[in-house]
Amino acid sequence: MADGKSVNALNSRRIAVFNAKGGTGKTTTTHALAAGLAARGRRVLTFDLDHQGNLTFWFGLKDTRPGLDEVIRQNTPLGDAIHPTTIAGVDHVPASPFLVAADPALRAKMGAETWLRRQLERLPDRWDFVLFDCAPGLGILTIAALAAAGEVLAPVQPSVLGLAGVARLLETLDQAREGVNPDLRLLGILPVIVDRRMALTGEVLDQLREHCGPQLLRTTIGVNVRLAEAPSHAKPIYDYAPSSTGAADYAASQGMRTTNIGGGNADYVMLTDKAGEAARERHWNDLWHYPLFRLVQAARAHGLMAIDGPFGDYQDPEGFRAQANRTAILGCEGKWAIHPSQIELCNEIFTPPAKEVARAEAILASMKDAHSTGSGAASLNGVLIDAASIRQAEVIVKQMAMINAKSAS
Ligand SMILES: Nc1ncnc2c1ncn2[C@@H]1O[C@H](COP(=O)(O)OP(=O)(O)O)[C@@H](O)[C@H]1O
Ligand SMILES: [Mg+2]
Repeated sequence: MADGKSVNALNSRRIAVFNAKGGTGKTTTTHALAAGLAARGRRVLTFDLDHQGNLTFWFGLKDTRPGLDEVIRQNTPLGDAIHPTTIAGVDHVPASPFLVAADPALRAKMGAETWLRRQLERLPDRWDFVLFDCAPGLGILTIAALAAAGEVLAPVQPSVLGLAGVARLLETLDQAREGVNPDLRLLGILPVIVDRRMALTGEVLDQLREHCGPQLLRTTIGVNVRLAEAPSHAKPIYDYAPSSTGAADYAASQGMRTTNIGGGNADYVMLTDKAGEAARERHWNDLWHYPLFRLVQAARAHGLMAIDGPFGDYQDPEGFRAQANRTAILGCEGKWAIHPSQIELCNEIFTPPAKEVARAEAILASMKDAHSTGSGAASLNGVLIDAASIRQAEVIVKQMAMINAKSAS
């Protein structure tokens, strides 16, 4: 191009999530970064460079072939190994256990260290970000990632790695610059799995700040059990099974004074104001609203499906229906059924009503129409369609497509 800019994937912002030590939150960081960027409308391509395939598993990919292994050993075009993930906007190049065997195969190639970079050169300029989830150690794929990346994001666990570990990390980056990629920048050192209850943590963080200055990112990621649990939820998610702890677990962990699972509570009410002799009305409130809202938010942030917990009284279909309807409106994709009779209710309630699907489809059609005629604004039955209703319509149509795909399989 005239401006000298590449029109291939090297034009993307390329970040290697790297720390030669294992278990330092690389995969967790990569996943969160990909999901966060996608939520902001960025297109992301991720590479799982670890034969353990944790990131691949977390993305809930059903079919991981062809993956990076085939690209290395069978010369499969990299484009064929790019799979869509459960997160809209995130594409993924999967790893498999066979990547172990691919390592010597790659090493045997001429110019192995720059192989990944040259592969990116052959991909179109389709993604805003390319993220490499590096394996622990300094294998050839890690070096290839450091050669292909523009920046390194290094998650470190301050209590474990400490100053010496970070010094080693910086040294490795210097070597990478000298050996394979003079332009490699350090995006930052991200303190993760930070346990503030340990006195040592604060001390190590202070030392790191002194040593690394602004390279130590101000954001720190605390110990978060949900984060540790999330990967194992990937499987149930694509199996369309419960993937979240329910509101009742939340109630218990909060010490809420109720043993009711899912329904109302006669003490959680508002009284209408005093008005002379008139009897005051008791207005029941939904004590599950906040936990459910939070649950849906957390699920969205991690690209997971939100499934509401159980409704205890299986002899109360009316109560179940009311609770499940509220849950569905808040954005949950499903709800536990603890009794066979609740399964049918669930399917009925969590399948968007035909009328709503038809309306959503009509909204998307008129938006497409407006787009193709260049009229700028779209309307349906004389009413202007705003961006929010388009997104809502997309959600409903997507849900329906997922349900249809599941019924067909
Ligand atoms: N902020 C966190 N709080 C609690 N556990 C975490 C956090 N980040 C990561 N973990 C857990 O620590 C382990 C290692 O994290 P992982 O991202 O797989 O590291 P790596 O990819 O560097 O090997 C995993 O079991 C993960 O779930
Ligand atoms: Mg990992």
